[in-house]
Amino acid sequence: MGIESDFIWFDGALVPYAEAKVHVLTHTLHYGVGVFEGIRAYEQDDGRAGIWRLREHLDRFLLSARMCRMPTPAWGVDALTEACLDVLDANGFTSAYLRPLAFLGAGAMGLGARTNPIQVVIAAWRWGAYMGEEGLARGVRLKTSSLVRSHPNAALQSAKVVGHYVNNILARYEANDAGFDEALMLDHHGFVAEGTGENIFLVDARGRVVTPPLANVLPGITRRTVIELLEHDGVEVVEQFFGRDALYGAREVFMVGTAAEVTPIRDVDGIAIDAPGPITQRVQSVYLDAVRGRVPWLRPYVTTRS
Ligand SMILES: Cc1ncc(COP(=O)(O)O)c(C=O)c1O
Repeated sequence: MGIESDFIWFDGALVPYAEAKVHVLTHTLHYGVGVFEGIRAYEQDDGRAGIWRLREHLDRFLLSARMCRMPTPAWGVDALTEACLDVLDANGFTSAYLRPLAFLGAGAMGLGARTNPIQVVIAAWRWGAYMGEEGLARGVRLKTSSLVRSHPNAALQSAKVVGHYVNNILARYEANDAGFDEALMLDHHGFVAEGTGENIFLVDARGRVVTPPLANVLPGITRRTVIELLEHDGVEVVEQFFGRDALYGAREVFMVGTAAEVTPIRDVDGIAIDAPGPITQRVQSVYLDAVRGRVPWLRPYVTTRS
């Protein structure tokens, strides 16, 4: 997929797309210590760009950096908020995907290097439905991966670290090569964890919504929103471990994430699941309204420039 974008924010300045370059000895390119976020802006009904849950994403970004011992003193939440709004303005985007990334620049090499500059970029581009419009409407096919999600002592589960995504990308390739849309990652105990870029929910036979607890998954911002939406509707949400068999027998399965939004699952490992089910449809439609500022009790979560 080609990226169409005119300007990228790079260490405090808006740089033309073609000039936003790094050296081949950029430390993160070799070893993967860097942190990133994925954020979406949606055009609001008044025509302005609204960034969905920007504060939560920037908090997670800075926390990920702190956990990786990458101090980013120059850039706090306020400065990064302005930077995100600047990137959208500079590109003339009212709807876009935003990608903040903090990485260790060129300088020293070797695993123990600590003197490399910490650089921050924020890119933006137009990005439609992550799993395609048809996937969003009719559901996608999921395959349990042979690759296990990293053990909690092998990765920082709650941080979005560049290098962690090798595990996810290999799982995604494997699923795609087998003809499926997305991979289901199990944890080291064999419990369901998440997709390669989404958290997972099922609706059980009692009509409860079940999702894995924050132990073996990324604490998704969409996950939290979806729990709020469901609880607002009076639906019981349970956070507990379960095996893949719970998915095979579920009434509904859906995945959520900034990129994937709320995507129904219509097949797990070749076992068909009705999709989209009523709860999935309700969550999807409230979510897609909320991000456009149309759900009054969630409106404060959209950041706009007045
Ligand atoms: C591994 C993984 N799980 C879940 C998610 C969903 O998180 P969020 O809803 O914050 O985008 C993402 C996306 O960031 C992810 O990369």
